[in-house]
Formats: sequence, C-alpha cells, structure tokens
Amino acid sequence: MLNRLQSSISSLLDARIKGHSLPAGLYTREDVFHADLDVFFANQWIYVGLECDVPEAGDAVVIDVGTTSLILLRDDDDEIRVVRNVCRHRGARLLDAGPTVVSKLVCSYHQWTYELSGELSYAPHMGKDFDKSCRSLKAVNFKSIGGLIYVCLAENAPPDIERLKEIMEERLAPYDIRNAKVAHQVDVIEKGNWKLTIENNRECYHCSANHPELCVSFVDLDFGYDPESLSPEDRDEAEAHVAMYSERIKSWEADGFPSSAIEQVKNCNTNFRTQRLIIAGAGESQTEDATAASSRFLGQVTRSDLGDIHLWGHNSWNHFMGDHAVTAIVIPLSADATLVRTKWLVHKDAVEGVDYDLGKLTHVWVETTNQDAELVARAHAGVQDSAYEPGVYSKFSEGALDDFASWYVDRMRAHGY
Ligand code: FES
Ligand SMILES: [Fe+2]
Repeated sequence: MLNRLQSSISSLLDARIKGHSLPAGLYTREDVFHADLDVFFANQWIYVGLECDVPEAGDAVVIDVGTTSLILLRDDDDEIRVVRNVCRHRGARLLDAGPTVVSKLVCSYHQWTYELSGELSYAPHMGKDFDKSCRSLKAVNFKSIGGLIYVCLAENAPPDIERLKEIMEERLAPYDIRNAKVAHQVDVIEKGNWKLTIENNRECYHCSANHPELCVSFVDLDFGYDPESLSPEDRDEAEAHVAMYSERIKSWEADGFPSSAIEQVKNCNTNFRTQRLIIAGAGESQTEDATAASSRFLGQVTRSDLGDIHLWGHNSWNHFMGDHAVTAIVIPLSADATLVRTKWLVHKDAVEGVDYDLGKLTHVWVETTNQDAELVARAHAGVQDSAYEPGVYSKFSEGALDDFASWYVDRMRAHGY
C-alpha cells in the first residue's frame, strides 16, 4: 500500500532542481537504493581493490558489493584475476569476506575444487562424462589502472574508462602503486546514503570547521571561496595563490610530472577528477605536521615536493603523495549505511618502526574519516526528516556536488528510470 502511495523514482528525478541537493527519497528510499546498486555499481566501472592487496601468488581477498561477491586473487603465474565467488555446482559461496591465502579454491559444500585460474579441476560423484571445462568460475571484467583494480559487472562495460586509464597510468607511474604495500586498512560504516558520502567528499566547505588535522596540509583556498566576501588584502592573497598554483603546475609538468586538473563529470559514464594539489605548511604529506610519514618514498619518487595527486571517482577518493598514498573505496550497504574502506600505502620495502611510524602515517585520515562519518550521519538524519527540502549548493564551494547530482540523475535516466 505504501509503495502505491510513493511517487515513482522517475518523478523524484524530475523533482531535482539544478544547483540543489537531491529530493529526500533519492537518499532514503529502499527502491532507489536497489536502483543505485544496479545503475552505479553493476553497470559502471567501480573501484574495488588494489593489485597490492594480493602481493603473492595464492593471496585472495573477497569484496562484497550488494548481493554480488568477488574474489580478487593472484594466480600461480603471478597474474591478477577477479572471479565471481559463486560455486558452479549449486552456487554456494566459496570464500568468506576479507583476505585469505589459498592454493586452490575449494567449495566447502561438496568439495568442488577450482584452480586459481578459475578452472574446475575436481568434482566428485559427477560421473565420467561430466564436462568440467564449461564449469569454470565466472571471470569478472576488470582493469588495473596504475595498480587500482576497477571491475564492471555489465555485459557492455562503459568504454570511457579508457580516458581514466590513459591519464592515471602516466600520472601514477613514478609511484609504482602496483608494487606498494598496504600498511594499514580501516573499515568505517557511515550511517548515511552513499551519495551523501560522496557529496561530503567533494567539498571542503566543511573542512575548516571539522577537520583540524587535515587542514594542516590542505590549502584552504583550493576548495573555493566567495570573492565578494574577501577583504582587499585577502583578495590579493587569493589572486597570488592562483598565480602561484599555475606556476607550480607548469614547473611540475616541465619536470615530467603531469599535474593539471582533468575531469570527466558530465555526459559520461566514468566519472572522475584528478589534479596535483599543493600541500600546505611543510608541503610534503598529509600528516599532522605536513612532513613525510615514511622516509622510504613510493616507487621511484625521490622528491618530497610533488604535492598530492588527488583522484575522485563515483565510489572512491585517493591521495597519492611522495611518501605514501591514501585510498578509499565506497560501497553502499543499505539506503542508510555505507562502507568506507581506507587503505594507507607505502613502498613495499618500507618497514614499520624503521622507515615509518604507523601512528604518524594514519593519524590525519583516521581522524578525518571519523569526522566525516559523523557529518554524513548528521546529513542522513536530516534528509529523513519531513522538514528537509533540497538545499542550495554554494556556487563557490559546492559546484562539484551539483555536477555529481546532475550526473546521477542523467545516469538514472539513461538506465530507464
Ligand atoms: S555448491 Fe559448491 S560443491 Fe556443491
Ligand atoms: Fe570531510
């Protein structure tokens, strides 16, 4: 009965006003959550993990997205594979969520056994004529982009992932993320819709009031300001900052480090933005004093002044710095709960307690992630209230949210909603 009283998803999309946050139902409704999983997580390329999550042959990690479960593994030939975590006998899950080490994939139900290539090698009680060759685990379409694993579950995977690949392979090459080491991982479940998680990440309007640790290394002016409210001195400072930025970008690029802002956020499937950002203060890293947390830099990087390559996608954010990288994966769990999985990456040979202190490495983003979880929960609680109506975005600081909301509506439309 309630469903019949509810407006259709299509009319909620119609109700979206440009320059404003989404109608409440798009954040809160169960039917929208399932549509989102289909449109944005089953039909788009999503970021699910890293090559360095499985550094050795036999390493495997299970990643669940909605009712889909994926096994990311490294096979005996050191190749990365992604297969569906569904036994080809009667469908049982092969592995539980999280990391493990395996020599073969054995289904605990009736012991059907698969090689790390996915081939079925043993199926007892099935008779001599049983053809194992057509019962391999289902392979998942994936791409490694600079060591970041993107998968697409759709038959027709969006081809515009290629632009992301072209740009980020070059940008990340010196950092050798493929061979980095995951020094730490934290899962936080935010009590909010995944789109509120992404919106929160795409603005720093909230940073100065909420992220004291992050603000040591973030340059405030990078995240938008209202030019009309600036004093003449502040306006001079803002203009000098813009000029200094373009000089730094020119200088980094002249030294062979691609740095300019590139985004693909409109009329596209694969939604991303990247830019090399200046780090404030000591200028080296996102730590509590902005100095490097690891004395062993990533990959072939030797300079501490390469700033922070940020990369946004529709289910991730990332910061690649000389000494370490922070990478976050966003996976919706329900209409009002979202997993944010954050990993800290260092050089594969960096040793904890010798080259880096884990506390210094993780402090800023542990605090920032917890602060963001609190903000997203507050936002979600408010959008559930009957007093909520779509709010106006700041044209100076929240333009990226407007782009995201428009992209969201466009993609829903493109899938027939
Ligand atoms: S369901 Fe896996 S062996 Fe039967
Ligand atoms: Fe934040």
